[in-house]
Amino acid sequence: MRYRKLWLGFAAVLIGSFAVLGYFGSEIYRQAPPIPDRVVTTSGRVLFTGEDIKDGQNVWQSIGGQELGSIWGHGAYVAPDWTADWLHKEAMFILNSWAEATKGKAYADIDAETQAMLQTRLQKLMRKNTYDAGGQTITVPDVRAAAIDDVSRHYTGLFTNDPALEAYRDAYAIPTNSIKDPERMRKMNAFFFWASWACVTERPGQAVSYTNNWPAETLVGNRPSSDLIIWTGFSVIVLLAGIGLLAYYYAANKEEELDVASLPKKDPLLGLASTPSMRATLKYFWVVTALIVVQVMLGVVTAHYGVEGQALYGFPLAEYLPYSISRTWHVQIAIFWIATSWLATGLYIAPAVSGYEPKFQRLGVNFLFGALLVIVVGSLAGQWYGVMQKLGLVENFWFGHQGYEYVDLGRFWQIFLLVGLFLWLFLMGRAIMPALRAKTESRHLLTMFLISSIAIASFYAAGLMWGRQTNLAIAEYWRWWVVHLWVEGFFEVFATVVIAFLFVRLGLLRTGIATGTVLFSTIIFLFGGIIGTFHHLYFSGTPTSIMALGATFSALEVVPLVLIGFEAYNNLQISKSTEWIKAYKWPIYSFVAVAFWNLVGAGIFGFLINPPIALYYMQGLNTTPVHGHTALFGVYGMLGIGLMLFVLKSMSAGTVWKDGVIKFAFWSINIGLGLMVLLSVLPIGLIQTWASVEYGLWYARSMEFMQTDTMEILRWLRVIGDTVFAAGTLALGWFVLGLHTGWSVENEPFQPVRDAVEKQTDEEVLL
Ligand code: HEM
Ligand SMILES: [Fe+2]
Repeated sequence: MRYRKLWLGFAAVLIGSFAVLGYFGSEIYRQAPPIPDRVVTTSGRVLFTGEDIKDGQNVWQSIGGQELGSIWGHGAYVAPDWTADWLHKEAMFILNSWAEATKGKAYADIDAETQAMLQTRLQKLMRKNTYDAGGQTITVPDVRAAAIDDVSRHYTGLFTNDPALEAYRDAYAIPTNSIKDPERMRKMNAFFFWASWACVTERPGQAVSYTNNWPAETLVGNRPSSDLIIWTGFSVIVLLAGIGLLAYYYAANKEEELDVASLPKKDPLLGLASTPSMRATLKYFWVVTALIVVQVMLGVVTAHYGVEGQALYGFPLAEYLPYSISRTWHVQIAIFWIATSWLATGLYIAPAVSGYEPKFQRLGVNFLFGALLVIVVGSLAGQWYGVMQKLGLVENFWFGHQGYEYVDLGRFWQIFLLVGLFLWLFLMGRAIMPALRAKTESRHLLTMFLISSIAIASFYAAGLMWGRQTNLAIAEYWRWWVVHLWVEGFFEVFATVVIAFLFVRLGLLRTGIATGTVLFSTIIFLFGGIIGTFHHLYFSGTPTSIMALGATFSALEVVPLVLIGFEAYNNLQISKSTEWIKAYKWPIYSFVAVAFWNLVGAGIFGFLINPPIALYYMQGLNTTPVHGHTALFGVYGMLGIGLMLFVLKSMSAGTVWKDGVIKFAFWSINIGLGLMVLLSVLPIGLIQTWASVEYGLWYARSMEFMQTDTMEILRWLRVIGDTVFAAGTLALGWFVLGLHTGWSVENEPFQPVRDAVEKQTDEEVLL
């Protein structure tokens, strides 16, 4: 078999990488920061129980968790990182009380030598691991207990209604009385204490804390460990070596030039018969378009909270739609519409390639559509109830807000969505089967398409691996199984295969070349991508080996991305190759944009924050949304839009699109994204990086630093990019609507209905 070696390579990479991911995952379980039964003082007072800490984690989740500030650097960026902030406040309280006791002055006002002496004393106190595994207790001296009480009082005031802290609530976009029950507040403090305790307490027998000394904080001796520096250097070298090897491979296996003479003379899809189930996917795309517009509007609201913490131009919006909800919905609707577009494309393509419409397929497509709508509306509503503190902690876990970014929806909705994804697989699989059985050359591509689809559905199940009160270090491990293995693993495979496949279908790419390229790039993506998961876990309560593996393998992920220019160039050539292909200009341009943002957003902005020493200072700064937006929207959002445009075009291949509105939409969206990042988010992130290196992470995220005039101006500058971007999405919506009403087409309005074929013979298989 021609592709045997490639398939074997693929299998070897999968098995080897998951073995490593699994084995070191078990180490994360074994070495997670312990949750004690009790936290007591040396004089015997019980500060918190283990149950307080675990319930406190649930309280934090109920107010939005990672959607409001961050813990261990994971989460949202307007409010502080609670672990870094707590740690700094605790440290300052102790230093001040010692300075008062010895010199009668505040710590800032005493001489440098005494300061240094007190700092050393503080480091000994804070870094020492007093967890007793036998009795499962953490013991703290009385002075630290006093500090814990003091910080707890501050947080209680912040999350309830202390008028003295109004300015902070404004700066951090925290609504007054975010937490309504004092007991819940006490428990959340217990959780914040525990999470920051893990940041400074040294692992048994080692000189680094449970979080590998993250966050940077000189007062308590949190500085980069030597491993951090060494693996940073190593990861850069690995990247260079990888680029060299791949460039050699490309040179040695030069693709043949596009042979214009052999291209089809007219659009092969002109004769495409669409079946009832194919036509039924149309409504999915109406929903995609509507969700894009809503999602972007929610983004605008969320960004506005960065300049006016509780209101929208004076209107007290936070009472009804607080920051943590607008941000959650913004992120979650992004995932929903991207997924919906892909699911619909899969459902559309399947009967087209096999020429076979299974029984009740249309019913299935319609049923899935209904189920997806229920999930979208139900999960978003549940999150609102959770954050508004209308649910008990257990109900919140099941139906409300789980507080874990990108998988925020309640457990019930997670399960429902998983079932939906498998229903999708089933519907697609049964329609595609005849094409797989017909031993055509394209079955390799189809198989890979199916594998990536199965993986996308299955990896969502990793989100069920944590329970309501699972140790955060372990929950994070599984959360990144979903998020990372999706975006940097099987989504990349899906993107590559689906684009190659569409070009094959248009007769612009030979099946043989497409298959070889897809299999080869899949191996490359997954070789770095699977173990690369660990780059999210350098500092989340994991052992040092995680950092070493994460840094090395994730650097390899960047290799295919920096060379993606080859693909972009080929696609551009294709878009100009024949006359009829011009009709597909905007879907193809979207695919070129996918390649562009893969280079810039995923490759460059990803690597900007990826080496351990970079992420040590940058985790949780605005450099992450620089990457998040340009990669997630740039790559997969543009793919979603491209696929939608492709399907809409192919559903009505005879219609001629008017160019103006869609052209404006395409360029505004891409330029707007670039402006948003370059004018505002990136400069903010870089200035924050400086602050983080100089003073520590707590400062880079503090009100004192973020409310300076420069930062305020930079935040306002975001309006420019956001507006251009939002105008682009509105134009896209207008255009798609116009396909229906007729204002987007030159000749007849949108007509998806063609001669339906319910069944075709094998000879008629379209591919
Ligand atoms: C198209 C591919 C990619 C997508 C869609 C993507 C998306 C994301 C998203 C959504 C986040 C979370 C942002 C947040 O917490 O707000 C993230 C974090 C991160 N990504 Fe990527 N990413 C991609 C590729 C890469 C690559 C290739 C690298 C580098 C090798 C990378 C490195 C990172 C790192 C280090 C973080 C953690 C940042 C933090 O926690 O502060 N990503 N990515
Ligand atoms: Fe990642």
